Amino acid sequence: MYPLIQKLLFTQDAEWSHDFTINWLKRTQNSLLDCVYRQNLPDKPVTAFGLTFKNPLGLAAGLDKNGECIDAFAAMGFGFIEIGTVTPKPQPGNDKPRMFRLPQGKAIINRMGFNNKGVDNLVENVKRAKYSGILGINIGKNKDTPEEQALQDYLICLQKVYNYASYITVNISSPNTPGLRNLQHGQALDELLVGLKAEQKQLQTKHNKYVPILVKIAPDLTDQEIVDMSNSLINAEIDGVIATNTTLDKTTVEGQQYSTETGGLSGAVLCPKSQAVTEKLCKQINGRIPVVGVGGIHSASTANERISAGSALIQLYSSLIYQGPKVIKEIVNSI
Ligand SMILES: Cc1cc2nc3c(=O)[nH]c(=O)nc-3n(C[C@H](O)[C@H](O)[C@H](O)COP(=O)(O)O)c2cc1C
Repeated sequence: MYPLIQKLLFTQDAEWSHDFTINWLKRTQNSLLDCVYRQNLPDKPVTAFGLTFKNPLGLAAGLDKNGECIDAFAAMGFGFIEIGTVTPKPQPGNDKPRMFRLPQGKAIINRMGFNNKGVDNLVENVKRAKYSGILGINIGKNKDTPEEQALQDYLICLQKVYNYASYITVNISSPNTPGLRNLQHGQALDELLVGLKAEQKQLQTKHNKYVPILVKIAPDLTDQEIVDMSNSLINAEIDGVIATNTTLDKTTVEGQQYSTETGGLSGAVLCPKSQAVTEKLCKQINGRIPVVGVGGIHSASTANERISAGSALIQLYSSLIYQGPKVIKEIVNSI
């Protein structure tokens, strides 16, 4: 059924199609109509950072920014779901248009800029969801928060989502919030990690529960930056790392319509780059921190390659847009 739905959706603007689909999933989840996307997949349990996942394939952040369709994505068969990126205050994001399909490379360019309804709204949505599996909540900073005060925004979100998340992802790798990626380096990174770990400790005592903190990184890091990043994450005792976010490198789509649009590139064309970063990262980390592999995963073989590189878990976003829920089934069955 998805090829037909996709054909219709692809006649419309990318963000309009996204909003339409999210609204439709919101209305049909937990109803008989969810048979359109419900898939009963075999359990392939895996344990990472102290949590047990039904299977290792998750929904990547950014598709359900406000946590409105958690039950719908769970019905599709994902082993875990990551919602967000959410910021302390609601914000509109960048001007439209800001999301573009590049079908030749099964790719997407986006410069959404963390459009979201704010952390309080997300928490209410999580409370309403029936889902009882692993839920990651991805947190970020508001655009108008100065870079030097970024930690404050992460701490506000951390405090508000702590009790509702299975794990929390700190997004410092979106290319669409000015200055955000600077937090991936040197002193700025170390100070951020120390602040987050201190707050995690306090929240653990307060809630009597340990919620792992993961950091999501960009694919546009040099080999030396991967080494430095790994050392910082290990020293700070961060619980996990998600590699990777979208890339600013558009060479793989040169000449295609929209290839010169500003923003981050995702989808099949990102696969080799994310795979290479995951391999280097896993080698450097050497099993000391679990790695979640994401970026261009679009088939059983690309999923299994990412796991062979050392990822404990994997995620996808763009291939769900291009292939529909059957890609989840193909991957989970192959693991
Ligand atoms: C439209 C769009 C919005 C995204 N928004 C977010 C976001 O809010 N937070 C985040 O951490 N990643 C976000 N991502 C990145 C994805 O989570 C993922 O890391 C990236 O797209 C690579 O995976 P893929 O090739 O399977 O799409 C977004 C991706 C797309 C295409």
